[in-house]
Amino acid sequence: MKRLLAGATLLALTLSGAAIAQDAPFAREIKARQGIMVYRAMQLGVLGGMAKGEIDYNAEAAQKAADNLVAAVTLDQSMLWPKGSGHSANAASTANDDIWKDGSDIGAKGKAMVEAAMAMQAAAGGGLDSLKAAMGPVGEACGACHKAYRIPQN
Ligand code: HEC
Repeated sequence: MKRLLAGATLLALTLSGAAIAQDAPFAREIKARQGIMVYRAMQLGVLGGMAKGEIDYNAEAAQKAADNLVAAVTLDQSMLWPKGSGHSANAASTANDDIWKDGSDIGAKGKAMVEAAMAMQAAAGGGLDSLKAAMGPVGEACGACHKAYRIPQN
């Protein structure tokens, strides 16, 4: 009986999950891509903290954060950005519709991000000065894409 009930609860949860997904367009894609972004920000928090002197420089920890950042910016995201899945379709997203317009250079901005993260990966373990020098381009790569393709954040 207990197992039956647990099964029924699970089914109810699954069904309500499906209903939520239907109510909010692209909910899964948005959640997944935002999760990847948050993960990037966590790695950048470590690297930026060291660059600013808020966290003691540690070559191993810096290397780990840079390796994680590269992993996060090189994940295949082709399933995560279906056309029109921005803020205008679902307010949970802060993506703007320019992403899917003709002339969008989001691919180039993503590529610049990968290059900056790889330069950080080569630099992070080589001392604080070398980490600091790689920091600017990484921050700029995040910021340039947000400026163009996110609705303004305050
Ligand atoms: C090529 C474009 C691009 C690059 C590069 C990029 N982002 Fe984003 N980011 C976006 C877009 C678009 C959104 C909005 C996603 C959504 O809400 O659907 C976003 C959202 C976010 C969010 C908010 C997530 C949430 O929970 O709503 C954070 C945090 C973030 N990015 C951090 C970063 C960091 C840190 C970097 C650099 C290491 C970075 N991003 C690089 C495009 C980019």
